[in-house]
Amino acid sequence: MSRRRQIYEGKAKILYEGPEPGTLIQYFKDDATAFNAQKKGTISGKGVLNNRISEHVFTLLANIGVPTHFIKRLNMREQLIRQVEIVPIEVVVRNVAAGSLSTRLGIEEGTQLPRTLIEYYYKDDALGDPLITEEHIACFGWASQEEMHDIADMAIRVNDFMSGLFAGIGIRLVDFKLEFGRIWDGEFSRIILADEISPDGCRLWDIATNEKLDKDRFRRDLGGEVEAYQEVARRLGLLPEGLENDVLDLESHRKKRGK
Ligand code: TMP
Repeated sequence: MSRRRQIYEGKAKILYEGPEPGTLIQYFKDDATAFNAQKKGTISGKGVLNNRISEHVFTLLANIGVPTHFIKRLNMREQLIRQVEIVPIEVVVRNVAAGSLSTRLGIEEGTQLPRTLIEYYYKDDALGDPLITEEHIACFGWASQEEMHDIADMAIRVNDFMSGLFAGIGIRLVDFKLEFGRIWDGEFSRIILADEISPDGCRLWDIATNEKLDKDRFRRDLGGEVEAYQEVARRLGLLPEGLENDVLDLESHRKKRGK
């Protein structure tokens, strides 16, 4: 993989040049950061799980007509994606109060919101991804009115679909973050879903126990990070029977076989 030209390295993923123009290879690292990278660590096996979980969710979303950058999974840690021009906005969808919403507005974590809330954050690490409004987006031209319409529309569809998907496996979808990108066709562009959907960017609580099955385990030093991600993958039916216990075993097993 290191023979390929690296295009970009983020906190949890690396992008390499793809085999054809307009494609990239997205590599999932085990690195984890929180609080704008003030806290750093690794979660052994996380990259493998996120690659698989994101493949699964993006495939299901494509099946209901949500356009995404995902093309196919290549191996345990890599997937082939369409190259997009990333819209510099993090779209956060919330169903239940938690995290920064609870802190900012003093709403107790776990409070069901009376309606789904969509928030926008300006994607800029140096500024700590500040909360913005659609007025800022229009004022600074980060996305057009039409693009914002498509983005909000897709965010709601993704939320409706994922809320059902996770409810079906005993998980409450508290909130999550999406990123979108532009693809160009001549002078026209359209918006598609990009980045990843995994426990790194979602809050997932067990419906019965409220146990956190997401990156809050790392953010809040709760321990059991990889077990939580594995539990999400297991409930989604993504871990082969009998191999649930160690994703890393699965990875080294494949490597030995040269796959
Ligand atoms: P927040 O409560 O910290 O604003 O996070 C809301 C959701 O967005 C939560 O599911 C975690 C996700 N998120 C990211 O994926 N990346 C980020 O940089 C932040 C701040 C949140």
